[in-house]
Amino acid sequence: MRTHLCEQLNQSHIDQTVKLAGWVLNRRDHGGVIFIDLRDRSGRIQVVADPDYPAPFAIADKSRNEYVLSVTGRVRARPEGTTNDDLTTGKIEVIADHITLLSRSEPLPFQIDEDEIGESTRLKYRFLDLRRPGMQSALRMRHKIISALRSFLDQREFVDIETPILTRSTPEGARDYLVPSRTHPGKFFALPQSPQLFKQLLMVSGFERYYQIARCFRDEDLRADRQPEFTQLDIEVSFMDEDEIIGLMEQMIRQCFKTILDVQLPNPFPRITYADAMSRYGIDRPDLRVSLELTEITDLMKGVEFKVFSGPANDAKGRVAALNVPGGNKLSRAQIDQYTTFVAQYGARGLAYIKVNDASAGREGLQSPILKFLPDDVLSEILGRTAAATNDLIFFGADKASVVNDALAALRVEVARDLDLVEPGWKPIWVVDFPLLEWSEQDQHWQSLHHPFTAPRTEHIALLKTDPGKILSRAYDLVLNGSELGGGSIRIHQADLQQQILQLLGIDTEQAEAKFGFLLEALKFGAPPHGGIAFGIDRLAALMCGAESIRDVIAFPKTQKASCLLTEAPNQVDSAQLRDLRLQINKPRSTD
Ligand code: AMO
Ligand code: AMP
Repeated sequence: MRTHLCEQLNQSHIDQTVKLAGWVLNRRDHGGVIFIDLRDRSGRIQVVADPDYPAPFAIADKSRNEYVLSVTGRVRARPEGTTNDDLTTGKIEVIADHITLLSRSEPLPFQIDEDEIGESTRLKYRFLDLRRPGMQSALRMRHKIISALRSFLDQREFVDIETPILTRSTPEGARDYLVPSRTHPGKFFALPQSPQLFKQLLMVSGFERYYQIARCFRDEDLRADRQPEFTQLDIEVSFMDEDEIIGLMEQMIRQCFKTILDVQLPNPFPRITYADAMSRYGIDRPDLRVSLELTEITDLMKGVEFKVFSGPANDAKGRVAALNVPGGNKLSRAQIDQYTTFVAQYGARGLAYIKVNDASAGREGLQSPILKFLPDDVLSEILGRTAAATNDLIFFGADKASVVNDALAALRVEVARDLDLVEPGWKPIWVVDFPLLEWSEQDQHWQSLHHPFTAPRTEHIALLKTDPGKILSRAYDLVLNGSELGGGSIRIHQADLQQQILQLLGIDTEQAEAKFGFLLEALKFGAPPHGGIAFGIDRLAALMCGAESIRDVIAFPKTQKASCLLTEAPNQVDSAQLRDLRLQINKPRSTD
C-alpha cells in the first residue's frame, strides 16, 4: 500500500512520485490550499492539496484529525521561507495527486500532539495515547532493551523457558492474586509473584542457565514504580558463585546501556554493604547522584541535656544522625518548615538544624534553636564529622533508627533536587551483605529480608542456633540512580538447611510441606549449587526512557487503585460464572 514511510523522504526524493499512508496529525486550510501533516510509524511529512486537483482536494477538505489516508503525490522542495528546521522532513512536502480515505475518526477526546492530558483520560483512551510520539518511542525503546538483554543471554547458552501463570502461592511477601478453580470447587490457583520456585526446579532439572521475560503479579500498595502486574527479566544459573553472577549480570547491563543509549557504565559497578548503605544513606537503595551523606552522631548525644537527642541516643534501637547540606544556609525559615512537614510523612517528630554562618568562629558562627542545648565540644565534633563549611546547614534526625533513616534518606534526595545538587548521569551500585533475617515485632518471629530460599553465608550457618539476627545472606541488589533495579541471591540447595530456615521463619514442617513440599522434595535429588536474580524490566525501561513512572513504559498499565480504565477491569461476572465456580459474593461492607 505504500512506497515509503513519511520520514524516509528527503531532498533526494524531490520530483519522485511516492505513495504514503498514515493518519492526519492536523489539517490547515490556508485559503484555498490545504496542508495535512501525515503521520505514520516513522514520523510525519507535510502533504499539500491544491484546489487545481479537485479530486484529492475534496478528500483533503473533508479530512479531520486522525482520519487514515493513502496519499500518492510528488515530492517537492518547500518554497523559500516555509521550511521548518525542527522537522526531519521540514525542507520538503508532497503535493497530492491522489488521496484515498481509508478510515474516518470521530472527534478526539484529546489531540495527539497535546502535552497536558490528564492521566485518567490517557488511560481510558490508551489506544489514542499510544499514538503520541513519546509513548511510541518509549515502547519501541522497551522492545529494544528486551532484545538486547535476550541477545546477551542467548549468546551465552541461556534457555528461555516459560513457567506457569496458574500456579500456587510463591513467597515474595506480597498478597496473591487468586483464580478460583471450576474443576476443583473451593480451590484456587495463585498467580505467580515471581517464577522463583520453578526456576530453582529447572536448576535441579539440569538446565544450568535459564531466563524468562516473566510476568509477575503482586497485590500490594501501588506507587509510581510498582504495578500489580509487572515484568521481570528472571534469571537462574547453576555452578556460579555470587561474584560470578554479579560479574555476568553487570556485563549484561553495561552492554544494554552501550547498545541502547551509547552510555558507558563503570566497570566494575561499585559495591556497598547493606550496613554501610543504611549508615551513610539511611536506605538500601541509595541514589549516588547525590553526594550528601548522613553522619553518625548517636554516640555524641548520649550525655547532652537535650532530651530529644539524648533519648534516642541512649536507646538500643535509636539513632541520631546529621545531614550536612552544602550551601543550605540560604534556606529560609519557611523552606525549613516545609522540610519539617516533609519528614513528618516518614514519622519524624521534628527537624532540628544548625545554620553555619562562619565555620571558623565556634559557637558564635552558628545559628540554631538547639544551640543552647549543646556544649562546645559536641558542637565542634559535629562540625568536624560533617565537614560542614561556612554557608552550610546541618539537619538532624533523632528517633528510632528506622524513622531517622526513612526521614533523612528521603530528605537527602528532596533537598538535593531543590538545591540542584543531583549530578547528571548514571550511578549503578550493588548492595551486598544483607542480613538474612529481620525480627518481626508484629508476628514475633524472624522474617526473610529477601525470600526464604536465600542462602546464608556458609560461615554464618552456626549462628542459626545462637544469634540469627547476625547472619548475613548471599543476596545482592542492583540499584541504579536510587531505584532498585534487580535483586537475587545464591539459594539454599540442601534440603535440611532449607527446613531449618523455614522453621526459624515460623513455618513448621507441615506448613512447609503444604506450601513448597515440591521444592523440598526436589532438593533431595541432586540439587546443584545455584543462584540467580530478577530485574524489573519496567523500572529499567522507565529509567532508560527518562520516564517519571513505570506506567509510561507499559502499554496497558493499571491505575494506583489497580484497575484498568480502558477495559474497566476488574469487573463483575454473571451469576452463571459464579455458580460454576461455586462462589457467592457477600454484600460489600459499607467501608468497602
Ligand atoms: P524481587 O521481589 O526483588 O525479587 O523482584 C525483582 C525486581 O522486580 C521489580 N519489581 C517490581 N516492578 C514493578 N512493580 C512491582 N510491583 C515490582 N516488584 C518488584 C524490582 C525488583 O528489584 N524471585 C526474586 C528474584 C530472585 O531472587 O532471583 C524476586 O522476585 O525491580
Ligand atoms: P523543641 O524543643 O521540641 O521545640 O525542638 C527543638 C528543635 O528540635 C526543633 O527544631 C524541632 O524541629 C527539632 N526536633 C524535635 N524533635 C526532633 C526529632 N525527633 N528529630 C530531630 N529534630 C527534632
